[in-house]
Amino acid sequence: MPDSRAFVQHLSEALPYLQRFFGKTLVIKYGGAAMDQVEARLAFFQDMVLLRQVGIKPVVVHGGGPMITAMLKRVGKTTEFIEGLRVTDAETVGITEMVLAGAINKGIVAEINRQGGRAVGISGKDGNLIEAVKHRPTRPGQDPARPEDGIDIGFVGDVSRVNPALLEALDNSGFIPVVAPLGVGSQGETYNINADTVAGAVAGALRAEKLILMTDTPGVLRDPKDPATLISSLSLPEIERLTREGVLSGGMIPKIAACRQALEAGCKVCHIIDGRVPHAALLEIFTDAGVGTLVTLS
Ligand SMILES: Nc1ncnc2c1ncn2[C@@H]1O[C@H](COP(=O)(O)OP(=O)(O)OP(=O)(O)O)[C@@H](O)[C@H]1O
Ligand SMILES: [Mg+2]
Repeated sequence: MPDSRAFVQHLSEALPYLQRFFGKTLVIKYGGAAMDQVEARLAFFQDMVLLRQVGIKPVVVHGGGPMITAMLKRVGKTTEFIEGLRVTDAETVGITEMVLAGAINKGIVAEINRQGGRAVGISGKDGNLIEAVKHRPTRPGQDPARPEDGIDIGFVGDVSRVNPALLEALDNSGFIPVVAPLGVGSQGETYNINADTVAGAVAGALRAEKLILMTDTPGVLRDPKDPATLISSLSLPEIERLTREGVLSGGMIPKIAACRQALEAGCKVCHIIDGRVPHAALLEIFTDAGVGTLVTLS
């Protein structure tokens, strides 16, 4: 078939998906290697503009751990991690906010707008979007009834409440919200929160049609070193089993927790996909190709 005929054929095949997702909200976490690969990066911004153009409402939540580490290094601060979480003193959270809500957030906004979109960058502080409390990792042998006995790693937060009114207002006015993963505490203090956690909480609060977590692996792998062991779909009970078997570790743990939180709050489905593949989000949304790992309630 000539190229132009094939193109029109494919476009026509997208019709059921265009109809199904019209007017619906999709929450997309943009992070990991996807953020620094030039081709995939440009494709991602184009995808967000295309979604909005066809009447779908994307909400972007971004990460930025490596860039925070690089900036801390430039100002002469070393980074210490406890259980995969950055120990964050007052100076570190200030720098984190500058990098996440400043450089990274506004960079994404400018690039989406350059592709013809109307993106607005906010952090979890704007409109009280993300209310947070201090996250305290548990010590070995700690009484589970006393979470306050956990380790104090500074301004690392857990989401305590999401107030999605600002996102809804932006969505309903044709803007693409781009959210930096920060939260605000009861005293107005800033918390750095894992971007997957924020995306899961936002997808739940918006009862999103989909939560898409874009990362730097093909999806959930049975053997994290072997891409051929991709698990194409997972239910929450299957996740319990994989967790017991120790298959999920590191950065995959907050992703799975985010899926659980979103699904339990009413988000329909979650996908963990490979953000290194250009147009990964469109492939997931508009084709039956079944990219990455689908996570469902049961
Ligand atoms: N079973 C598994 N399957 C796939 N990846 C896994 C698994 N267990 C652990 N991982 C790790 O999770 C990582 C993805 O999470 P990571 O936090 O590193 O990236 P990200 O969340 O996309 O980016 P960022 O945290 O910068 O926003 C993978 O690169 C892999 O090392
Ligand atoms: Mg991560």
